Amino acid sequence: MQTLQDAAGLRATIRGWRTQGHTVGFVPTMGNLHTGHHSLVKLARARADRVVASVFVNPTQFGPNEDFERYPRTLAQDQVGLAESGCDLLFAPDVGTLYPFGADKSVSLHVPELTDTLEGAHRPGHFDGVATVVCKLFNLVQPDIAIFGQKDFQQLKVIERMVRDLSLPVKVMSGPTQRADDGLALSSRNQYLSASERPTAALIYETLRQMRDLIAKGHARKVVEQAAASKLERAGFVPDYAAIRRAEDLAEPADGEREGLVALIAARLGTTRLIDNLLFD
Ligand code: PAJ
Repeated sequence: MQTLQDAAGLRATIRGWRTQGHTVGFVPTMGNLHTGHHSLVKLARARADRVVASVFVNPTQFGPNEDFERYPRTLAQDQVGLAESGCDLLFAPDVGTLYPFGADKSVSLHVPELTDTLEGAHRPGHFDGVATVVCKLFNLVQPDIAIFGQKDFQQLKVIERMVRDLSLPVKVMSGPTQRADDGLALSSRNQYLSASERPTAALIYETLRQMRDLIAKGHARKVVEQAAASKLERAGFVPDYAAIRRAEDLAEPADGEREGLVALIAARLGTTRLIDNLLFD
């Protein structure tokens, strides 16, 4: 596996593949990779001739009080895992390559509606940063397919909407959430959890399944959401939301709507903010 930092080198390598008629699959990441990221690389491997991954801790998607500075940077370790998962090329640019005018002076993309709610409501500007950096990366890599995790379900929807609205020539695909044995969704942020918090964190997934089961039994959505938030609070979380939405557009479902739903939770445990979701179908 090759690692490249500069845009010109990346473009030259990919142009070479293109002239040989190869298709390109792409997995963008912020590094500190785990089995969840590796599963996306393996999916790309199965669907494209050449696989590119990127590692870039994107400053524009972090709020002023978020963990940009302390976000774990583990490039050497990431290179090993990516090579083992079948990645051909790792693109690891610096901030100046993706933001030539500075991260605070960048052109910025805004995907309306979808980003007003849930993560968007609790992390103002977050999805503008995500959409902007993913669009920049798509322009550099020009992949045929790009793979995102269902773990960040709203992010996946935002990217799908951006690609469609901007007519970007890339097929967006998704991979299922990879979990620890107790159900906790794998995340780079799990390592911030203390030894005593770690078992408690598994309650998020338990709560999501409970939300699904209660809806299946016919309980009212608002009651189920309230019960989920209370359960998390009792366990020591500070929940940002525990919501049931339409999977398609994250809108609030009508009373009695039972098809195509997703439950989404964001909650803080100590200083660590965790998110997870569960598709009902
Ligand atoms: P990051 O958090 O590194 O995640 C990179 C990709 O891995 C995302 O598509 C995410 O949904 C997926 N992923 C994370 N945990 C996963 C898990 N447990 N199972 C399956 N997939 C998982 O998401 C980002 O980076 C950034 O916002 C990015 C899209 C790279 C833009 O900066």
